Amino acid sequence: MARWQQDGTVTDPAVADATAYYDLGGEADRLDEPLGRVEFGRTVEVVGALLPASPAVVADIGGGPGRYSLWLAARGHRVHHRDLMPAHVEHLRSTAGDPPGVDTAVADARRLDLADSSVDAVLLLGPLYHLYARADRLQALAEARRIARPGAPVFVAAISRWAPRLHGLLVNRLYGRHADMAAMVDRMEGDGVMSPLFPGSFCGYAHRPGELRAEIEEAGLAVDDLVSVEGLAFALPDLEQRLADPVDREVVFASARAVQRVPELLGLGPHLLAVARVPPEPPVDRD
Ligand SMILES: C[S@@+](CC[C@H](N)C(=O)[O-])C[C@H]1O[C@@H](n2cnc3c(N)ncnc32)[C@H](O)[C@@H]1O
Repeated sequence: MARWQQDGTVTDPAVADATAYYDLGGEADRLDEPLGRVEFGRTVEVVGALLPASPAVVADIGGGPGRYSLWLAARGHRVHHRDLMPAHVEHLRSTAGDPPGVDTAVADARRLDLADSSVDAVLLLGPLYHLYARADRLQALAEARRIARPGAPVFVAAISRWAPRLHGLLVNRLYGRHADMAAMVDRMEGDGVMSPLFPGSFCGYAHRPGELRAEIEEAGLAVDDLVSVEGLAFALPDLEQRLADPVDREVVFASARAVQRVPELLGLGPHLLAVARVPPEPPVDRD
C-alpha cells in the first residue's frame, strides 16, 4: 500500500518496480509492434464507439507516451494526459511538440490534480497493471470516478490473470531466459501479483475478469461492458504478415470481436477492457 510524503510524492514497491521497468524505455514503440497494433485498434474501436461527441474533455490517466491522447486530440477532444513516469510525459512533449488540445503532466492515478466532475470521459489504460494492492487500485478507480461528470464513461484496462502463462510462457517461451518464471506464474495465478524476475522486468498485477468487475463496482462505478481486447491474436506466430494483408487483418479483428464477450473466453487474451460509468446524479427531491 502506498505511503504518501508531505511533498506529494509516494514511496511504494509498485512505483519503484514500474519505474525500473519503464526506465528501460520499451513503452515508446510498444503499440507499433504487431500485437500492440491489435491492442490499439481494438481499444479505439471500443472507446471510439462510446465517447461523447467532440469537443469533449477526456482524461487519459496512465497515458504512457501518449498514443491515445494524440488519437483523442485528432478527433477534436481536449485531453488531460497524466502519467507517473516523467519520461513518458517528456516523450509526448518532445515527439508531438505540445500537441494542441493536450495538456500533459506527471501525476499518480491515485491522487490526481484534476477537479471533481470536470471531465466527460476517462481512459484508465495502464495504472491498474502496476498497483499490487487492492486498496491502491480502488483508490485509482475512485479518482477516475471523482474527476468524471455523472454519466461519463470510464474505460478501464487490466492484464488478464492468464496472460503470463499463455503469452509469456507458452507463446514467448520465456522459461528459456528466466528459470524462475514458471514458479512465479504458478504463484501469481493464485494471488495476481507478477513479481519481478530481474531488475526492470515487467511486474504488477493481473486480474480475473470477475475481480476487475468487482473492484470497479466497489469504487462506485457501474460496469456496462467487459471485453477481451485481443482475443487469440497474441498466439499467432505470423501476426505481422496477417496484419499486412487486408483480408487476413480483418479476420484477426473480426475474430477478436466475435469472442470479446464470451464469458468462458474473457480471460484468454492478454488484456481486459471494462466500460464503466459514473452513476447519474440522483434527481433532486423538491419536497
Ligand atoms: C503499459 S503502459 C500503458 C500506456 C497507455 N495507456 C497504453 O495503453 O498504451 C502503463 C502506463 O501506466 C502508467 N502508470 C503506472 N502506474 C501509474 C499510476 N499509479 N499513476 C499514473 N500512471 C501510472 C505507467 O507509467 C505507464 O505509462
